[in-house]
Amino acid sequence: MSRGNFSSKIGFIAAAAGSAVGLGNIWKFPFEVGKGGGAAFVLMYLIFCFILCFPVMVTEIAIGRKTQKNPYGAYPILGFGKWRGLGLLGVFSGVLILSFYNVVAGWAFGYFYEIGIKGNFGIGNSFGDYVADWKTVGAFGIIFMGLTAFIVSRGVSGGIEKASKILMPVLISIILFLIIYSWTLPGSTEGIKFYLIPDFSKINLEVIHTALAHAFFSLSLGMGALITYGSYVSKKDNILSSAAFITVADVGIAFLAGLMMFPFVFSQGIDTNGGAGLIFMTLPGVFGSLGPLVGRLIGGLFFLLLSFAALTSTVSLLEVPVAYVVDELKIKRKSASWWVALVIFLVGIPSLLGNGAVRFFSSFITYGGKESPTDFMTFIADIALESFLPLGGLLTVLFVAFVWKKENLSEEIAIGNPNYKGSFLEKFLHFNILVTCPIILALLLILTVLSKFLGIHLV
Ligand code: TRP
Repeated sequence: MSRGNFSSKIGFIAAAAGSAVGLGNIWKFPFEVGKGGGAAFVLMYLIFCFILCFPVMVTEIAIGRKTQKNPYGAYPILGFGKWRGLGLLGVFSGVLILSFYNVVAGWAFGYFYEIGIKGNFGIGNSFGDYVADWKTVGAFGIIFMGLTAFIVSRGVSGGIEKASKILMPVLISIILFLIIYSWTLPGSTEGIKFYLIPDFSKINLEVIHTALAHAFFSLSLGMGALITYGSYVSKKDNILSSAAFITVADVGIAFLAGLMMFPFVFSQGIDTNGGAGLIFMTLPGVFGSLGPLVGRLIGGLFFLLLSFAALTSTVSLLEVPVAYVVDELKIKRKSASWWVALVIFLVGIPSLLGNGAVRFFSSFITYGGKESPTDFMTFIADIALESFLPLGGLLTVLFVAFVWKKENLSEEIAIGNPNYKGSFLEKFLHFNILVTCPIILALLLILTVLSKFLGIHLV
C-alpha cells in the first residue's frame, strides 16, 4: 500500500509548519501569557522552545524518516519493539487532544460566521453564552471534523501543502496590520509593557510547567505527529534546517499574536487572566471599531484564516491515529479516516457540553487541592496536553539517549546534511538530548504531577 510522500521539501515544511501553527499560537499562547503574568512567561516559553523542544523535533523527524512508519510501528523497526507503548501513548494523546481542539476550532469557525457573515461585533460580550450554545458550536465542530477527515482521507501530500503556502502569509499580514492598528489605541503601551518587560516575581512552578507544556503543544511535539510527518520526508532533505524553520515560524507567529493581543486587551480593560475566552472576548470589539464594512472584512478574514490554521493542525492530529490504523490494522486510509474522526468527535462531546451547556461536564471533577471543580475540557487538557506531551517528549529523548543511541540519530540527520557530523550543532543536540532534556523534563513532570493532580507542593 502506498503511504504517500510530500511532493517536495517545501511541501513537508509547509505541512509541518501548518501543523505547528494553529490555535496554540493565536488562541492559547496569549491567554497563557495572560495567566502566567506576561513577559516572564514569554521568556520561558522561548527558552524551552529552543533548548528542549528543538532537539525533540529533530529527533521525531529523524525517527520518522528512518523508519517510514507511524509512531507505533516505528520502534519495532528500529529493533526495540517494547517501545511501541510510547507510540501508543502518542496515538492516545492525539485522540484526546483532537477531541477538545476540534471544539475550540468550532468556536473560531463560528466566529467567522458571526463576524464575517452576520457582522455581529457584539459577540465578544456574549462569549460565555455562545460556547454554552452546544447546538450551534457542535454543528461547526461537525463541519470542522468532517473537513479534517476529508483531507486526511486523501493523504497528506494533497491539498494541505499548497493551501498552507498561500494562506499562512495572508494570516501573518493581517496580524501585522492589527499590531500596527493596536498601537494607535489608548492604553496600548501598558499592554506592550506587560508583554515585553518580565516581572520575575510572577514565576512559579505552575507557570514554568505551563510554559513547557505549551512549548510542546505549540510545536506539535511529544505524540509522534512529526514522526508520522517525518515518515513522508525524502532522504534528500535536510532535517535540521527544516526543523529550524518550523520552530522559528511557529514561535514567530505566536510572538506576533501576543504582540497584537495585549495592547487590545489593555485598551479595552479586559482581565488578562480571562482564560480560554481571551481572544474571543477581545477581538470582536476591535473589529467593530474598524467600522462595519472594514471590520467585517478584516474580522471575517481573520477568523476564517484562524480556522484554516486550526485545520492544518487538526489534520496532523488526526493523521497520527489514522496512520496507526492504516499501517497496523491494514484498514484503507479512506474508511480509517472517517471512522477515527467519528470516534474522536464522540470523545469530544463532553468537552463540547462542558462549557456551560451541561452542569455535570462544566463542573466535572475536583483535584490537586483546588477549591472548585474543573470542566471536562480542562481536565482532558491537563491529562493529554499538560502531562502526556512532556512525558512523550521525555521518553523520546530517553529512547535516543539510552536505547537507539546518539550515533544512530547522527547517522540519520547526516543524510541530506553532509557537514553535520562533528559540527557544533551535533554537540548542542547531543548535550541537550543526553543531559538537559532528560533532567529538566523529568524534574518538571514529577513536580507537576505532585502539585497539579495530588495537591502536594514541594516548591
Ligand atoms: N501545534 C498545534 C497548535 O499550536 C496543535 C497541534 C497539532 C499539536 N498537531 C499536534 C499539538 C500534535 C501536539 C501534537 O495549534
